[in-house]
Amino acid sequence: METIARLHIDTFELTLRDIKQVDPKLLHALSVSVGWPHRDTDWQMLLELGQGLAAVDEIGRVVGTVMWLRYDADFAMVCMLITLPRLQEQGAGRWLMEKAHELNEGTVFGLNATREAKRLYRSLGYGYEQKILRCQGEATASGMATPSAKVEGLVRTAAASDNDSLLRLDLAATGHDRSVAYRALLPVSRGQVLVRNDEIVAFSLCRPFGRGHVIGPVVAASEDDAIAVSRPHVEAHAGSFLRADTPACNTVFTGFLAASGMQIHDSATSMGLGRAPFVPRSKTGSRRIALASQAIG
Ligand SMILES: CC(C)(COP(=O)(O)OP(=O)(O)OC[C@H]1O[C@@H](n2cnc3c(N)ncnc32)[C@H](O)[C@@H]1OP(=O)(O)O)[C@@H](O)C(=O)NCCC(=O)NCCS
Repeated sequence: METIARLHIDTFELTLRDIKQVDPKLLHALSVSVGWPHRDTDWQMLLELGQGLAAVDEIGRVVGTVMWLRYDADFAMVCMLITLPRLQEQGAGRWLMEKAHELNEGTVFGLNATREAKRLYRSLGYGYEQKILRCQGEATASGMATPSAKVEGLVRTAAASDNDSLLRLDLAATGHDRSVAYRALLPVSRGQVLVRNDEIVAFSLCRPFGRGHVIGPVVAASEDDAIAVSRPHVEAHAGSFLRADTPACNTVFTGFLAASGMQIHDSATSMGLGRAPFVPRSKTGSRRIALASQAIG
């Protein structure tokens, strides 16, 4: 193609601001620019949950973000690292991560890395990798027919009086007190619990997210228990868009998702800086079968 003229435009000068001080519409526009499905309300939940930085250019455009959600005194989940496509591979992503680290000295970090970001995180020292599958699609009632081991106990809708049990199971599954995340998740989610011998042994939440609804978190000691508490959400959303993010080791649960219309669409990598980000308290006890979201973990 013939070049008609050339113009050299100087690179941007970026200023860092508290993410809560910029117009949320600009944050949404940034995540849309990289093809992410987050709605305004998904951003709003994260802004209520955590802290972050926005890189702003000379005329106030938001061209980069990073956030962190603090779960324990010494642990934070890093999320929403985004740089505007035309700015990428010029060091802004690394700069934002370094600033987030500087502002949280002495903290152990966890995150879920997209393919594009994995190399950056590895070079910043992140490790303890675990593959996370993003399963999504139009939910089908055919998943109901998937054979699964008979699960003992009763599945019922979660009530507000179950919240302490949910937090206890989540703490056992993740090693973190994530009550701050649950305070944001519970009011916008519908929950199912599995009760066995008068005790809640597994649960799942489901809430509006991105293009439809997301099932997560799902916490259970076995994949069969996880399926038992997830099935009612599939039933409730048959014919509409559903998503679940699950560690790839959960092959039975992934099979259930696929049979329910949620095929593997993409994968991310759970990573930790300093130590593994999510460690169940016991090898045979509760664990994370589905994430609340890639940002929340
Ligand atoms: C991931 C992302 C934030 C990186 O931002 P960036 O501004 O390009 O980052 P930097 O310029 O600081 O690059 C950091 C490193 O990543 C590498 N990198 C950047 N984009 C990459 C790509 N598309 N594929 C592979 N590596 C890439 C750079 O080469 C650089 O490596 P180096 O330091 O060894 O040279 C940006 O690509 C982005 O917003 N992507 C879409 C959203 C996303 O996936 N966010 C990550 C969430 S976990």
